[in-house]
Amino acid sequence: MTTMNALRAHIRGGAEQLTYEPAPAPEPGPGEVQVQVAAAGITFDELLWDLTWTRDGRDRTPIVPSHEFAGVVSALGDRVTGLSVGDHVYGMVPFDRDGAAADLLVTPANHVARAAASLSSVESAALPLAGLTAWQALTTHAGVARGEAVLVIGGLGGVGAFAIQIARHLGARVTTAIRGGSAELARTLGADTVVDITDGSVPDGPFDVVLDTVGGPGLDDTYGLLRPGGRLVTLQAPPSQEKAAAVGASAAFFVVQPDAEELRTLASLADTGALRVLIAGSYPLSAGRAAYQSGRTMGRAPGKTVLIVQ
Ligand SMILES: NC(=O)c1ccc[n+]([C@@H]2O[C@H](COP(=O)([O-])OP(=O)(O)OC[C@H]3O[C@@H](n4cnc5c(N)ncnc54)[C@H](OP(=O)(O)O)[C@@H]3O)[C@@H](O)[C@H]2O)c1
Repeated sequence: MTTMNALRAHIRGGAEQLTYEPAPAPEPGPGEVQVQVAAAGITFDELLWDLTWTRDGRDRTPIVPSHEFAGVVSALGDRVTGLSVGDHVYGMVPFDRDGAAADLLVTPANHVARAAASLSSVESAALPLAGLTAWQALTTHAGVARGEAVLVIGGLGGVGAFAIQIARHLGARVTTAIRGGSAELARTLGADTVVDITDGSVPDGPFDVVLDTVGGPGLDDTYGLLRPGGRLVTLQAPPSQEKAAAVGASAAFFVVQPDAEELRTLASLADTGALRVLIAGSYPLSAGRAAYQSGRTMGRAPGKTVLIVQ
């Protein structure tokens, strides 16, 4: 058995369970690629998701976290077309499989696309999950049209920073609500109006689309910000259909889907300068536990946190 180094958890829990250790190297099956990981993006909440720890409802520990990466194709399974060993790629790993916090990963070939030429590995690794979430929220689920008023709640977070830029790219008028941090940065990303909730300000609706990346008790306040016919999209938990219907709006929750075509779109937006990737911090893989713990730090830098693998 070939071994590699990986960040793993043997018991379900938080960052305190993560250990840097040798692990069996994964081999690609039919339709899969093996990738030598250069960098792995993390989502702080992923250790709270059932699928990180289970498959088909069953415990699957030990697990390797991180569901997004950049790296180089190192082996191809049978029936993989359009990719070659040596290609610089980026993409996602299914939530219920061992992830990217390792020297090597295996993922379905249709979860992978060529990385943007203009981005570093760290930047590319920060793009797939949050970028696809923002893209799918605003296109597939909210159907944002040119000229519409869009509110992004949490605009300096991993998803929110992409959402501001994508909403702008789609031709929307963008308002964002942030909790401290740089209003100037949010404007640079494309927000026309920035509301910092820490000084008691509230967004001035109504909006055609509200993307709530924060959720929690504040979600109740968002229904009243929608205009009739407006669309609310949430990422943390399903919204109340009754409260949305009461203001004549619709509301949807979804889970991001890997999509190679959309990854190609995001890479090309990055290469044309329409999409910037904000990096909050980067850590060597061996310090992966500290990387996950950094999510609990108030006032951390905006954007995504990334593990540097090699
Ligand atoms: N459904 C899906 O497919 C999917 C996909 C990806 C992510 N998610 C979920 O989406 C959420 C966001 O993910 P993320 O990676 O973007 O998280 P993140 O990087 O932690 O970003 C959240 C941002 O919102 C800010 N914030 C917190 N409370 C706020 C408030 N009341 N008003 C305005 N801004 C506020 C945070 O500021 P601070 O720095 O001050 O905390 C941070 O900038 C997470 O719950 C994640 O699990 C879901």
